[in-house]
Amino acid sequence: MTDNDTPRTDGGTDPQTAETASTPDPSGEPLVDSSIDVEGRSESASTATARSVIEARHLDVFYDDVQALDDVSMEIPAKQVTAMIGPSGCGKSTFLRCINRMNDLIDTARVEGELYFEGKNVYDEDVDPVALRRQIGMVFQHPNPFPKSIYDNVAYGLRIQDDDDNLDEKVETALKRAALWDEVSDQLDKSALDLSGGQQQRLCIARAIAVDPDVILMDEPASALDPIATSKIEDLIEELAEDYTVVIVTHNMQQAARISDKTAVFLTGGELVEFGDTESIFENPESQRVEDYITGKFG
Ligand SMILES: Nc1ncnc2c1ncn2[C@@H]1O[C@H](COP(=O)(O)OP(=O)(O)OP(=O)(O)O)[C@@H](O)[C@H]1O
Ligand SMILES: [Mg+2]
Repeated sequence: MTDNDTPRTDGGTDPQTAETASTPDPSGEPLVDSSIDVEGRSESASTATARSVIEARHLDVFYDDVQALDDVSMEIPAKQVTAMIGPSGCGKSTFLRCINRMNDLIDTARVEGELYFEGKNVYDEDVDPVALRRQIGMVFQHPNPFPKSIYDNVAYGLRIQDDDDNLDEKVETALKRAALWDEVSDQLDKSALDLSGGQQQRLCIARAIAVDPDVILMDEPASALDPIATSKIEDLIEELAEDYTVVIVTHNMQQAARISDKTAVFLTGGELVEFGDTESIFENPESQRVEDYITGKFG
């Protein structure tokens, strides 16, 4: 196979593409009703004390002189869904990209402070970002399958790692976990580009989980999808959190309330204003600014 057209090894995509594709600022529109139903996975996970897998300590990020994150400290628990919400430009994608060092690919980005993954600072000199991204996969707003068959997309990361024993079985398992197998099992040789947007996004999730990462980062994974495809992705995310730590950025408050265990609210200036159990954040936020934001008083 020639890999010229698919140079990445992390199951991810070009962060610049993802950046330019971000959603418009929702300012001006009420984002949510003042009462949001919080379903979440609260009874299963957020009440239990989970081990933290990722920990940011006094994290600052600058793009040249512009500060995008300001002294962010938080701990992300294992095998739960952590949602990041906040208005456009508040640093959500920047934070996500710190976790698997995708910000390394942006020349002007400078990170200060510490970001631990399993107790190891990912910015230590001896950390290999490519290996890190195998453990911390990423899925972006716009599905970005490679121009290859469905099978080859899912097998891609495994082949790169020379992990191609029982490849058929591994591809099948990843597609099943991504809730796509039933729709594509008889057409694995078909081009991934011929799938629908929602199917492509589940394929990208299958590609990310095929290499068996510990963490899956998702930057607005459903915002380009219709309600039915969105609902499939939401169900899938909740299921994935049984095996993986999931961190998701979303502009959709109801989505955060429905599927996450923890919610982090970033506000303008790259400040993490509140972080806690999703239920408390939506039903009883400590900060007036957070309350104003989640009730749609400002965007
Ligand atoms: N590649 C970049 N170069 C320069 N500045 C950037 C870059 N990426 C982000 N920024 C700036 O950093 C700040 C945070 O951006 P970021 O994309 O992290 O916000 P966000 O919360 O993800 O926004 P959105 O909800 O619109 O996706 C913004 O001021 C943005 O302009
Ligand atoms: Mg973003």
